[in-house]
Amino acid sequence: MQKILVARPIFPDVIERLQRYFDVDWNQGDVLSAQELKRRLADKDGALTAGDPIGADVLAAAPRLRVVSNMAVGYNNFDMAAFNAANVLGTNTPDVLNESTADFGWALMMAAARRIAESEHWLRAGKWQKWSYDGFLGSDLHGSTLGVIGMGRIGQALARRARGFNMQVLYHNRSRVAPEIEAELNAEYVSKQDLLRRADHVVLVLPYTKENHHTIGTAELALMKPTATLTNIARGGIVDDAALVEALRAKRIAAAGLDVYEGEPNLNPDLLTVPNVVLTPHIASATEATRRAMANLAADNLIAALGEGPRAGQPPNPINAEVIGRARA
Ligand code: GLV
Repeated sequence: MQKILVARPIFPDVIERLQRYFDVDWNQGDVLSAQELKRRLADKDGALTAGDPIGADVLAAAPRLRVVSNMAVGYNNFDMAAFNAANVLGTNTPDVLNESTADFGWALMMAAARRIAESEHWLRAGKWQKWSYDGFLGSDLHGSTLGVIGMGRIGQALARRARGFNMQVLYHNRSRVAPEIEAELNAEYVSKQDLLRRADHVVLVLPYTKENHHTIGTAELALMKPTATLTNIARGGIVDDAALVEALRAKRIAAAGLDVYEGEPNLNPDLLTVPNVVLTPHIASATEATRRAMANLAADNLIAALGEGPRAGQPPNPINAEVIGRARA
């Protein structure tokens, strides 16, 4: 039997599925250190990860490893140049999380715009004595302008929901999406600067790459309206969190909603002291149904990539399909 490492706790029934095909080493404890990851991958043919960094050093320590299946759509934890050099396949879990993640983007955006978390903290602190005409005034979603940066599958699911709120949709993306998608979403393609100047609510849904590092920093925040909100459901590092703290404190923008952070789970401590930001612990895809679908898809990818099961040799979501069938380097 081939050997695999499942680097994180996941649904036990998915582990049982994997055990039908593989000898499974399952880490049910804390996140593995790089050293521990290397030690446990030394004799493995495949691995299932969720955000664990896999670079050239880890691959070098795992000479038998042929596939790493990430239980996430984002795979910035994989050094794909190293994967390609070693002929190791990477896979991810796109599509199954689009709708749940888009729902959550709206939840955060609405919570930020309508000051839900901030007012709840105030209420819990026992400060509510009387009704007040200007208590926690926020900004409207309905009839406003949504700005989506990153118009991939999740960005499109997010923009589709704007119809019900009668919002104008602006978007910015590496490349323009097909005209029929623009028409369906009633979305206007604009430059990043134009979007930041015009949008009432900006949502980030782009992958994290070197080029996207600090896509939103001091200069970009300065372009936004003082009444605008910023929501990040993409990845930490896309926003300069220190610059955001300053902008929120100075009310250069009204509010923010963050699900992801630079250096998470160790976030910039200043964020915890800013009232006009809603903070959640990277849970945009976290519904029972969606996390199950992601875990099963990650298992499907691993099973197929290691030549087992009904789709042997044809994993559904290869990132670097060109290495399939090549000998490990
Ligand atoms: C979650 O952040 C994912 O990339 O799926």
